[in-house]
Amino acid sequence: MNISVIGTGYVGLVTGTCLAETGNNVLCIDIDKTKVEKMQQGVVPIYEPHLDVLFERNIKANRLKFSTSLEEGLSHGDIIFLALPTPEDEDGSADLSYVLGAAKDIGKLIKNYKVIVDKSTVPVGTADLVKETIAKETTIDFDVVSNPEFLREGFAVDDFLKPERIVIGSSSDKATKLMEKLYKPFVRSGNPILIMDEKSAELTKYAANSFLATKITFMNEIANFCEKVGADVDKVRVGMGTDSRIGKRFLFPGIGYGGSCFPKDVKALHKSGKDNHYNFDILNAVIKVNDTQKKILIPRIESYFNNDLKGKTFAVWGLAFKPETDDIREAPALYVIEELLARGAKINVYDPEAMSNVERKFADKLNYIQNMYDVAKDVDALIICTEWSIFRTPDFKKLKNNMKHPVIFDGRNLYDVNDAKNEGFYYASIGRKT
Ligand code: UGA
Repeated sequence: MNISVIGTGYVGLVTGTCLAETGNNVLCIDIDKTKVEKMQQGVVPIYEPHLDVLFERNIKANRLKFSTSLEEGLSHGDIIFLALPTPEDEDGSADLSYVLGAAKDIGKLIKNYKVIVDKSTVPVGTADLVKETIAKETTIDFDVVSNPEFLREGFAVDDFLKPERIVIGSSSDKATKLMEKLYKPFVRSGNPILIMDEKSAELTKYAANSFLATKITFMNEIANFCEKVGADVDKVRVGMGTDSRIGKRFLFPGIGYGGSCFPKDVKALHKSGKDNHYNFDILNAVIKVNDTQKKILIPRIESYFNNDLKGKTFAVWGLAFKPETDDIREAPALYVIEELLARGAKINVYDPEAMSNVERKFADKLNYIQNMYDVAKDVDALIICTEWSIFRTPDFKKLKNNMKHPVIFDGRNLYDVNDAKNEGFYYASIGRKT
């Protein structure tokens, strides 16, 4: 099939590349000329494991192309994916200006039947808005389908190629059939393509992300309470998670959820509730608890240093919002850094992938050190914000020798408490005894 993908952010790029992998001819459109030129030369603009291999292969096979022309995109694709940003508006709602702007342009350019697919995470009712916006500009026949994506950064290629489910919101048999044909190669293992109405599909995405964010947040509160009563959250987590109704995943406590999705989507669903005269009390609590959780290490660090962080030097391991990505959007590490800077501390940072993104944000306010041991040289304490695998089994002796004081504040519970103590560290983590 001929497919066009409008927007080459993380979702659009993975979607386009993986659809090319099953033999479709894919044209990716982006307004950013420099980015398009780079992609034409085979440069992947984001860090996402395995994407580079597929990218190169499909460009070579002539199945994956790039352009800045929406007009070209419209004439190429039988199916047009909208993978455009829906950033958080000032009031917490999703800003639909990119999606509806593209819809208006599509209405002006459309010449024959197309299926327009909402791939972005959009509030309930957006498919109808996209339909109305296009219909205002044209009399040509078209359908709008909602097809939310459930990719995780760091596992996006695998999630796309072997999805647990595909959700398609459609009220047109013709469009549904085309979408089923497109996705058939990805669900050979027997995982379902779920066909539903557009609104249910749109809400499925928000409900899934908000539920997962709630699950993490619930566990974070249990972890905080463990500390008050002297329980161990690792034991509680396993005890809970072995109940198959609860499940083991997404129960890991830490310094809060971040990223480009959970924080934005929880707020957008909460706002969407308000707009429809429904108060999501539970989401309100999730937002509040997560805001506090991101800074939960700060009072502990302050209390350890007798409320005086001025002139103290800290090393931070991990800046990305999670491992296997260079994405720092809403990363808890940023909040930790801001708080420490505000208290006059000096900060050395290290992350395997996200250094340049952080440097763009903080410029010369931080020391950027390209090695996980050098970053700890002469520091008063080490703070762990992201659970990259490389941090899981460090050379403790080397680390201790480098540090001024052997003190670790671990926001991701990477080590066994006794092991860290036996190595000679003061070790504070989340929901476990210090
Ligand atoms: C999330 C969803 O998992 C995807 O299904 C969805 O498609 C995507 O958002 C999206 O809407 O595009 P992602 O943001 O890539 O994916 O990251 P996750 O792996 O879900 O992690 C989100 C945050 O939760 C991270 O900050 C992570 O550290 C935190 N987390 C996760 C925990 O604190 N504890 C856990 O047990 C799991």
